[in-house]
Amino acid sequence: MTTPRTPIGIDAIAFSVPDTYIEASDLAAARGVAPEKYTKGLGVSRIAIAGPDEDPVTLATNAARRLFLLSGRDPSEIGMCVVGTETAVDHSKPVASYVHGLLGLPAQCRVFETKHACFGATAALLGATEWIASGAARGRSALVIATDIARYELGTAGEPTQGAGAVAMLISERPRLVELDVGQTGSFARNVHDFWRPLHRKDALVDGHFSVECYLDALEGAYTDWKASARDAVPSELARSCYHVPYGKMASKAHRRRLAIEGVSQDDADARFATEVAPSLTFSAQIGNVYTASLYLSLASLLAAEASELEGAQVGLYSYGSGCGAEFFAARVAAGAGAFARHLDLAGPLAGRRRLTVEQYEELRRADADADRRAIPADRPSGVDDLRAATAPGPDDHAVYLGVDHSERRIYGNVQRVAQRRVA
Ligand code: CAA
Repeated sequence: MTTPRTPIGIDAIAFSVPDTYIEASDLAAARGVAPEKYTKGLGVSRIAIAGPDEDPVTLATNAARRLFLLSGRDPSEIGMCVVGTETAVDHSKPVASYVHGLLGLPAQCRVFETKHACFGATAALLGATEWIASGAARGRSALVIATDIARYELGTAGEPTQGAGAVAMLISERPRLVELDVGQTGSFARNVHDFWRPLHRKDALVDGHFSVECYLDALEGAYTDWKASARDAVPSELARSCYHVPYGKMASKAHRRRLAIEGVSQDDADARFATEVAPSLTFSAQIGNVYTASLYLSLASLLAAEASELEGAQVGLYSYGSGCGAEFFAARVAAGAGAFARHLDLAGPLAGRRRLTVEQYEELRRADADADRRAIPADRPSGVDDLRAATAPGPDDHAVYLGVDHSERRIYGNVQRVAQRRVA
């Protein structure tokens, strides 16, 4: 008789978003496009826009602070800190090192960054899960954070599919939200130029319609491999499906393609979409594409909507990274996840954001071109703590990006959250 394995998975989850957003309909009007193309044709309602004091480091840090605050877990329990991002702030120094410092994580910690377009955080999550399963974690947990600012050139077809945000996850034994089947994943990879960002560019380049085909072909490849690799252990029924969501409509295309492999007609797949996929899209419709955080934002949205009803059920997860690499795997919603998800107040960060006009958004984009070279203010901005306090945050502190010093080192500070979030 074999001893049942201790379950491993996502113990807690939290996200952060920028303070500001634009309405997709405002952007459509400014670009001379019918608003329904963005709201219905793409499934985008709002697009989160990062401000001058927000970057992938602050988004990641603020998501993780919220995670510790609400989960009851302590930074001292962390033995691995991995940040997945495709919009890193340095060619060498990982976002994870900044985050490690800003959170005050232990020195005895494996700290690194993962990049594979929107797949980076999934590589981190699966690696962390296997690290725990191997015994190397010695009872400690992993902090996995996905953080990105999705950005295309103004006026391009990709512009309505921008967004920004971060999702932080605690990976541990006996998880309170979802359990993962360690080692049961299906993979797919192919060298394609569907979406890329040369080193000198802040805005991504994309072959849009080709990227949609690459995403769907990779889904077919990864899903088929998942079924083959798991054999009789494949759950007979996936109660819900969470997909990588560059824009909401992509998830309906994905559901059609996956169910077609099971012999389900397009009409039947569309009929099942409202139950099986739509609850996972609420948050992304309000935020937009968050690249490598996107799949986990979908999972958070699903848990916020239905964790109680889904306890014990299996959820399919599809992660796609352009370039390309993809993985399909499943998660089982843990007993008690409903009450814990309510406690985590998963939708909380969406409250109190400010709507920008398209002119304000365009002005922010112009200023953003120099953000990585912006000198830190000679005088400390009002409301910002002494910079040394950035490594010893209080529970209400919110990390902000200030600029670079004389040696181009990025400098971060803290403000008290909500009331004094902005320093500009
Ligand atoms: N009312 C309702 N629907 C309308 C409409 C209207 N007035 N006008 C157009 N539509 C519909 C179209 O019929 C179309 O629907 P289908 O996809 O079901 O055919 C949809 O709106 C989009 O219209 P177009 O295809 O004409 O849009 P486009 O050519 O301007 O651009 C895009 C679409 C290629 C996805 C573009 O937004 C883009 O390049 N986005 C960035 C790339 C991307 O997100 N790729 C996704 C896969 S890659 C990936 O997932 C990685 C990643 O995160 C980037």
